[in-house]
Amino acid sequence: MRTEWLDERLRADLVAWRRNLHACPELGFQEHRTAAFVAERLRRFGLEVRAGVAQTGVVAMLGREGPVVLARADMDALPIQEESEVDYRSQTPGVMHACGHDGHTAMLLAVARLLAARTDEIRGRVKFMFQPAEEEHGGALPMVEAGVLTDPPVQAAFACHLWNDLDVGKIGVRSGAMFAATDALEITVSGQGGHGAAPHQTVDAVLAACQVVTLLQSVVSRSVNPLRAAVVTIGAIHGGGAPNIIPPEVRLRGTIRSFEPDVRETVLARVREVAEGVCAAAGARAEVCLTAGYPATVNDPEMVDLVRAAAADVVGWDNVVELDPSMGGEDMAFVLQRVPGAYFAVGSRNEARGLSLPHHNPRFDFDEEALSVGAETMAHVLDATLRKFAR
Ligand code: NI
Repeated sequence: MRTEWLDERLRADLVAWRRNLHACPELGFQEHRTAAFVAERLRRFGLEVRAGVAQTGVVAMLGREGPVVLARADMDALPIQEESEVDYRSQTPGVMHACGHDGHTAMLLAVARLLAARTDEIRGRVKFMFQPAEEEHGGALPMVEAGVLTDPPVQAAFACHLWNDLDVGKIGVRSGAMFAATDALEITVSGQGGHGAAPHQTVDAVLAACQVVTLLQSVVSRSVNPLRAAVVTIGAIHGGGAPNIIPPEVRLRGTIRSFEPDVRETVLARVREVAEGVCAAAGARAEVCLTAGYPATVNDPEMVDLVRAAAADVVGWDNVVELDPSMGGEDMAFVLQRVPGAYFAVGSRNEARGLSLPHHNPRFDFDEEALSVGAETMAHVLDATLRKFAR
């Protein structure tokens, strides 16, 4: 592995920053300490910094003229009680960096530090986007709405995620759709309540809701081309409270995942038709509420080529691997919807050291060597992209 831009001091800082952030995790839109930590260091590196963008976001600019490329990190933690015994474990009860965003923030700080030391060689400008609230609320869209991509206009955008499904020392890339579009689904089934011993005097919302759940599983299998992908999951059912009472109402909640806009449209339309049709047949009524979440995260093939080449410079071609798409969602999608770019994965698993638990696990941790690999790769990606635009 060649992390030649990063010297020993910066490698040590990178780990220290990550551990500092790990010990003080903050939930979405509450990243006040984290944002201050980031802004203070960026200013020290000589960057022009704007804090308080979309509440707790930080934007910084490096370089004076030329094309602009953007690199993004997410700063938020999760509502999980950390169970690890490491000395940098979370000091905040019930909140934990269990996804690696502490590492993302530290890596992007290192990238800023690296490129700030090479401003004479950089062929344009780099904008740094430290965003709040990736996990649930979506901090990327309010930052986009606050003008992060337009003032001045950004020509390409990149982000990465530490990846415990991939060994440390490897970089995962993918051309096209990488993460799914997410839509929330809520169905209220209304019938007519009554005695459990006299169902003929009722319209049974429980039975109708059960049929809705069952038939929703035919939407993907019968209405979507089997060579394309989608998911319909009902994750919550609420209704009734006693064994001998038929309740008047049952509520179902779920999530819908898809990659292509036409598949998404088909699935959303069919979910509504099935729920309403099944309930009508039972004499009940369905109120269907579909709420758009994140769009699909789609990587630009040309930008992915740049990432592949830059990653190969750092880890070697043998360690650049092609990833399968994931049905997970990622709000970098709002950025990549507007400007070409790429999202890549930085391998962080080390089985031998017991660092292989999945993200969002209360004992999640990763091999910190991944931080150097990720920072060096991102710096090379940004440099290469500016060189391409300058040609
Ligand atoms: Ni994450």
